[in-house]
Amino acid sequence: MTAPEPGRGGTHDRAQDPARAAASGALVAEDLRVAYGKVTVLEDVSFRVVPGEVVALLGTNGAGKSTLLRTISGLVRPIAGSLALAGEDLTRLRPPEIVRRGVLQVPGGRATFPGLTVAESLTVGALTVPRSEREARTAEVIDRFPWLAERRDQLAGTLSGGQQQMLALARALVCRPRILLVDELSLGLAPVVVGELLEVVASLRTAGVGVVVVEQHVDLALSFADRAYFLERGRVRFEGPAAELRGRRDLLRAVFLAGAAAGPTG
Ligand SMILES: Nc1ncnc2c1ncn2[C@@H]1O[C@H](COP(=O)(O)OP(=O)(O)O)[C@@H](O)[C@H]1O
Ligand SMILES: [Mg+2]
Repeated sequence: MTAPEPGRGGTHDRAQDPARAAASGALVAEDLRVAYGKVTVLEDVSFRVVPGEVVALLGTNGAGKSTLLRTISGLVRPIAGSLALAGEDLTRLRPPEIVRRGVLQVPGGRATFPGLTVAESLTVGALTVPRSEREARTAEVIDRFPWLAERRDQLAGTLSGGQQQMLALARALVCRPRILLVDELSLGLAPVVVGELLEVVASLRTAGVGVVVVEQHVDLALSFADRAYFLERGRVRFEGPAAELRGRRDLLRAVFLAGAAAGPTG
């Protein structure tokens, strides 16, 4: 566990070398700088996720986690740095073009449309899928979450909090993402439900999806993730294998207390 530096071993290594990162299909952000007006909120942020790995993005409120995801999605323009997927430059693409390349974000909070039924919600998810494939894709997702079939005519707003977030995930999966960005999917949910959601998210690694998870339940996030990044006031403070971070109470305390001491910024 160190500050970011040329890595050794595993997915880290694969993503580090540009040619190998491209071949692996990695999403690579290099030296991103992002500002809202005159206020810089991300500085020199380098970040990568490889298909088939789960990366936890951690940090206190206002650290810049959502901004990083929004930048990857093209919703926020960086003033410096670059973004690439499998070697293709994404930096100047618009959000729909980024979605079309398979980078999908599940928004934070309650991410469902309460007035749509479960079936309609999945149909909305399929809007960017070629018409001829929509039905098969929806069926594929219902196979994965059989309870969706039983509730297909139920309004999303009447599902439990955990079910709504599961539906939000399912809706994203209809698009068969290559990279899935999950921003605080479990906000306000009980830890046991958070665990269930993270289990589903982590199961996507076997399908070769690269997953980035922002999660307040740090211990839970680290127990499901392969690697983790700690953002502190817009900078990557630490980066490393989740297994190494799990035992580092000192580090977790340092990052989270430093953030807390700086006061609520978000
Ligand atoms: N649309 C915005 N306009 C101005 N400042 C923003 C905007 N969104 C976020 N910020 C600021 O950027 C910083 C990072 O916010 P954010 O990315 O939401 O952090 P996190 O997700 O880690 O809590 C915070 O100081 C926040 O107040
Ligand atoms: Mg956020």
